[in-house]
Amino acid sequence: MGRCRGGLFGVALLATTIGFAARAQPRQVNGVLGGSVLLSPLLPRNKTVKEIEWSFSAGAGATIQVAEFGPGGFKRPDPKDRFKERLEMFNATALKIRALERGDSGVYGARIKLHPALVEDQSFNLSVYEPLPEPGIRSWLLSKSPAWCHLLLECHLPSRTGGTVAWMRGWGEPGGVRVRALCGGVLQVGVQPGSPNTTLTCRAWRALEERRRSIHLASVCWNGGDGVRPGRWTVVAAGMLLAAYAARLEFPKVPPWHRPQ
Ligand SMILES: *[C@@H]1O[C@H](CO)[C@@H](O)[C@H](O)[C@H]1NC(C)=O
Ligand SMILES: *[C@@H]1O[C@H](CO)[C@@H](O)[C@H](O)[C@H]1NC(C)=O
Ligand SMILES: *[C@@H]1O[C@H](CO)[C@@H](O)[C@H](O)[C@H]1NC(C)=O
Ligand SMILES: *[C@@H]1O[C@H](CO)[C@@H](O)[C@H](O)[C@H]1NC(C)=O
Repeated sequence: MGRCRGGLFGVALLATTIGFAARAQPRQVNGVLGGSVLLSPLLPRNKTVKEIEWSFSAGAGATIQVAEFGPGGFKRPDPKDRFKERLEMFNATALKIRALERGDSGVYGARIKLHPALVEDQSFNLSVYEPLPEPGIRSWLLSKSPAWCHLLLECHLPSRTGGTVAWMRGWGEPGGVRVRALCGGVLQVGVQPGSPNTTLTCRAWRALEERRRSIHLASVCWNGGDGVRPGRWTVVAAGMLLAAYAARLEFPKVPPWHRPQ
């Protein structure tokens, strides 16, 4: 109900301001520690910008004004604030923040004054992340016989990294390797001794960053390389995990009315 009304109000506002985007929610912007970001407000086409005031607030802290784009060009009301020399006027409307620090994460407001007397507020939610680390690969040896070696592989990023991982589909037809994707970056693989190419690659990405890591299955199976040599309980745990995945993936769901009471 409240949502509905908000929507109607939004439409009315849109109509009176000729395609002007009223944005209540801050736009999400991601930056990497040490890198730079551009905060670029969306502007209505036919309007002339007179002035933009930029503010910053982090969490519960006070909101400070950090920059002003006006008739007199670029101004920094308090050049001694946390940004020092790291703010730039990229062009007439976009603010650039260089050498990002963790503490730069927060909400940046842009109060845009347009000709003749319109005021538009837009905001950006900047999250500054550590550079994306290389993904980690964990392996569990499930079983090994002269004919096959079965492994469970997991590709992962440290929690709070905020990225995504996936095994690359590029394995094509590597003879003697069977791959089955379970969920959440977990693969079940079977490898035959003497397979020509037993390299699998995991890709991790977040916005424009990407890292890859490969694992050589043959060396995990037969040379005791890379892989974690599992203790007995690790194997049991991995087997249980696998059974759980298999149950979820393979068996058709029994409709509730067929379940024994
Ligand atoms: C906006 O600009 C277009 C051309 O770019 C023009 O045809 C139109 O009349 C303008 N609208 C207003 C409200 O000024
Ligand atoms: C400023 O730069 C941004 C990013 O390149 C661009 O989207 C925006 O249109 C530019 N603004 C002006 C006024 O040129
Ligand atoms: C800003 O983004 C962070 C990380 O995504 C989120 O935790 C936070 O709630 C956001 N803040 C606002 C005001 O949207
Ligand atoms: C092995 O397979 C991977 C994935 O398909 C590929 O990227 C790699 O180039 C192959 N290596 C060799 C030596 O064929």
